[in-house]
Formats: sequence, structure tokens, C-alpha cells
Amino acid sequence: MLDLLITHATLPDGRTGMSVAVQGGRIADVAPGLSLPAHETVDAGGLLLSPHFCDPHFHMDATLSYGLPRVNESGTLLEGIALWGELKPLLTAEALIERALAYCDWAVAKGLLAIRTHVDTSDPSLLAVDALLEVKRRVAPYLDLQLVAFPQDGVLRTKGGLDSLTRALGKGVDVVGGIPHFERTLADGAASVKLLCELAAERGLRVDMHCDESDDPLSRHIETLAFESQRLGLHGRVTGSHCTSMHSMDNYYVSKLLPLIAEAGVSVIANPLINITLQGRHDSYPKRRGMTRVPELLAAGVNVAFGHDCVMDPWYGMGSGDMLEVAHMGLHVAQMTSQAGIAQCFDAVTGAAARVMGLQNYGLAPGCDASFVLLQARDPVEAIRLRAARLKVWRQGRLLAETPAATAQLQLPGRPAQTSFMPARGRA
Ligand code: FE2
Repeated sequence: MLDLLITHATLPDGRTGMSVAVQGGRIADVAPGLSLPAHETVDAGGLLLSPHFCDPHFHMDATLSYGLPRVNESGTLLEGIALWGELKPLLTAEALIERALAYCDWAVAKGLLAIRTHVDTSDPSLLAVDALLEVKRRVAPYLDLQLVAFPQDGVLRTKGGLDSLTRALGKGVDVVGGIPHFERTLADGAASVKLLCELAAERGLRVDMHCDESDDPLSRHIETLAFESQRLGLHGRVTGSHCTSMHSMDNYYVSKLLPLIAEAGVSVIANPLINITLQGRHDSYPKRRGMTRVPELLAAGVNVAFGHDCVMDPWYGMGSGDMLEVAHMGLHVAQMTSQAGIAQCFDAVTGAAARVMGLQNYGLAPGCDASFVLLQARDPVEAIRLRAARLKVWRQGRLLAETPAATAQLQLPGRPAQTSFMPARGRA
């Protein structure tokens, strides 16, 4: 007897009429038209069943703090960093944990069951590190939380920065972070990349650096990050986050850079909502979009994922933990409007993001965790277009969240009252 059988599902790869059999928290079988006894059977009715969403780039220590102690008036990255500096002395572990747990509730409701969050290690008390380690422990039964030791104020620029970051790793933070473009000089930025990659190699950890989050075309720390990844044999374990300077780089230089990133097996994370908001702020017109070169990186064979980065914090006053909103913005900013491009944007918040995080047992195949989402959409294109309702969210076979289908009651003059069911098919 199976624990759960889902029938008549459409899968992200386009297969329809599929059944997914679940036993012991794992997927036992995926095949068309299975008819097997199960404790619970769910008829998907042709709707999309997707592996759960993953956010590979977030800041949970700052989330839901919008307006504390004041709002970011200029809307710039640098005022956000200054504002975060004002907020840090006021943080308490209790309030931080409460906000983070509230965000994790939002995430689960949206089918977002794995989050990589950066945690600022600049404060030597490591208050935020301890708080997020506690959050990680508390949410473990329902959400995978991965922590990155992130020296927001610069690991070399801050006195004791390396010591604080190393102590955070000692406490159990999973990934080595960095912010080379925020160090005082280009040389210090490159030195920080080398130092932090060596630290990760020694400890067998992954690396994920805020890398070149700038409109300066000469901010080229991604080159050093890729070079060090190759030199230290960190293939597949290193990520460059943001990489917005690549938007403004010289095309000839980028033609040399892309193969290096691909050969080094470095993943790249774009954060479309934040990049389109924070970059180009020093421009008059035309204003740069500021997002990294997503289609070109993909064409070069680089693993590219999308992150949410911020929700209601010193840098960004919007957001709701919806990775479909992130994918929706990403495809607009990157002009990835072809059917293949939209599918890649869906992958950027599912499979590609899971690869960044190194998630084990992720996917819709026998042996994978039965952690998936039933969406009120018939394919990934429709899911992104509608930011479709997450009808049901399961983790390891357990139902965690349900959302009613979106409907509208119409009372139009001259026509009988009717219920309009989403999604409405907008094309043949
Ligand atoms: Fe970030």
C-alpha cells in the first residue's frame, strides 16, 4: 500500500497524464496511468506538479525589517548597507528569530522549501549567526535552510572580519561568503577572494560570494573567483552571486570571461527583483538594467539560478517569498520570452537553484524526496504568467500547505452570474 498516489499530473518536462507514487517520503515510481492502492490519492486534473521551489540567495537576518529604524529614502544599495548598519545595534535575537520564522511560513505556503540565506558575520557578537542557526534547527522538519557566512562590511575592510567569519563557520554555518567589490581596493577584493576560497577548500565547504554587485564594468572579481575555483579544485561548489557588473562590461572581455566561468564550474545567481531596482541608480538616461548576462551565461553552459535576495528589508520594500514572481521578473529583464527561455527561467528557481545548493534527492524521479508542489497551472509558462496558486505543497510525502484555487465571481450586466476559473487558456 502506497502512502500517496498523485494521478493525471503534468510534469515540468511536458509529460502529461503522469502518476507519482510515494512511499516512505520518497518517490517510488513515476509513470503514466498508475493504478495502485494508496492511503491517499490526489487527482491533479492535468495540472502541473513541480519539484518544490528553491531560493539560492536570500538575507533572512534582515527580512521583514522594512522601516526599522527608518526607510531607505534613496533606494540605493549603499543607503541600504548604511541603514542595515544602523539597524544592527538594535537587533535582538528574539525579534530576528520571530521575523525569520514568519518568513519561513510564507515560504512554505508558496512551495519554497529550500533557502540559502546569507548571514552577516561582521558583528563580532555573531548574534545574527546564532539566531539563524536556531531558526535552521526549528524549521528543519519542514524547510531546508542553508547558511552562508557573509562579511557584509568586507572581510578585510572590517577589523576582525576574518576572525568573526571563521568563528561563524565553526558554529556550523555551511558556506563561505564574501563581498570583494566592497573591500577598499581592487587588490584587496582579489585578495579576499583568494583567502576565502582557500578557507573553503581547507574545510571542504562551498563558496557563495556577493561578487561585483556594482555597475562598474571594471569590477572583475568573478574572474578571480573562477580562477581560484579552478586552482583549488572547487569545481561545482562555487557560486558568484549578483555579478551585475557583467551587465556593463566590455563585450570582448566577456567573450573571454564566460568560458572561464564555465570551465571552472562556477554557478551564477541573478537576483532580478533586486538588480533591476538597485542597479543603474547613478545613471541618468538611458538607465542600465544592471542584471547579469543570463542568456549568454546559459549559452556558455553555466548553471544560472535566480534568487529573491530581499523581502521587506533595508534594500527592498516588496516581495512575498514567491519564486514565480522572481522568475517572472527575470524573464522580463533578460528578455527571455521564447518558450525555451521561459522554461529556463522556471528551472532557475527549481532545478538550477537546487544544484547551487547541492541538494540531494531533489527532483521528480524514483528515489527523489517526495517534496513537490501542485500548481494551478498547466505548464511552467502558465505558472509564471499567473504566479499560479500553490494548491498543495508536500515535503517528503507530508502535506504542509494548501491554498484555494484562484477564482472570480462575475456579475456582468446582461449576462448570468458566473464563476471564472483561473487559469484561462490564453493561446491555442
Ligand atoms: Fe544579496
